[in-house]
Amino acid sequence: MSTVVAPFIAIDGPVGSGKTAAGRQLAARLGHIFLDTGAMYRAITYLALQKNVPVDDAMALTRLASTAGMELAATPGDECRVIVEGDDVTDELRSAEVDRSVSAVSAVPGVREVLVRLQREIAGQGQIVMVGRDIGTVVLSDAGLKIYLDASVGVRARRRHAQLRESGSDVAYETVLTDLRRRDELDSSRAVAPLRPANDAVTLSTDDLALEDVVDRLEAMARRDGDEV
Ligand code: DC
Repeated sequence: MSTVVAPFIAIDGPVGSGKTAAGRQLAARLGHIFLDTGAMYRAITYLALQKNVPVDDAMALTRLASTAGMELAATPGDECRVIVEGDDVTDELRSAEVDRSVSAVSAVPGVREVLVRLQREIAGQGQIVMVGRDIGTVVLSDAGLKIYLDASVGVRARRRHAQLRESGSDVAYETVLTDLRRRDELDSSRAVAPLRPANDAVTLSTDDLALEDVVDRLEAMARRDGDEV
């Protein structure tokens, strides 16, 4: 029996579940394109903050998303570079300011429509690991493998806190925890494409797993004997 690799892999989960790091490494192992869709919502948020577009102005945000000319340089296993209006903004997307406003921007239906269309176009270019909140439920609802990565709120806040400190921020753990709870609530209660596992997703808790173990498990699920994926 030959090994078959799932061509479309959807990974969803909340902030700090480890989905971006695991998805990137999985893509590198499989030779798939890697697409972090959160970076796309962050790029529109960054642009809005730059241009003083209020994050509660749905029409202006939709217009911004439609005219941003977003391009993604997505290669197997590499960080996905995001270009808007001709500028590479990738290194600006993880700031506390973007963190604070991105849930509001990503709740705007018009913004989602523009970005989902682009995500599907990119998936049309080849085998892909796509990471986000609504990949298994909306964007790639036909994906052969859907994963929902989860972890307890305390573990996720500790991971996010460590990441922020590594990048030079001296934000307090309590602040990170409060912000993460707020974003969990906003992401899972919004009207359009709320965060939830697809009915046919495999849920994996990463509380007690090192990143490499998570990637090992995902790789085993992606490489299946037979031709049923
Ligand atoms: O994964 P992240 O933290 O970089 O995502 C940033 C925000 O974008 C988060 O608040 C949820 C939102 N998002 C979304 O609504 N849909 C996606 N497919 C990916 C991210």
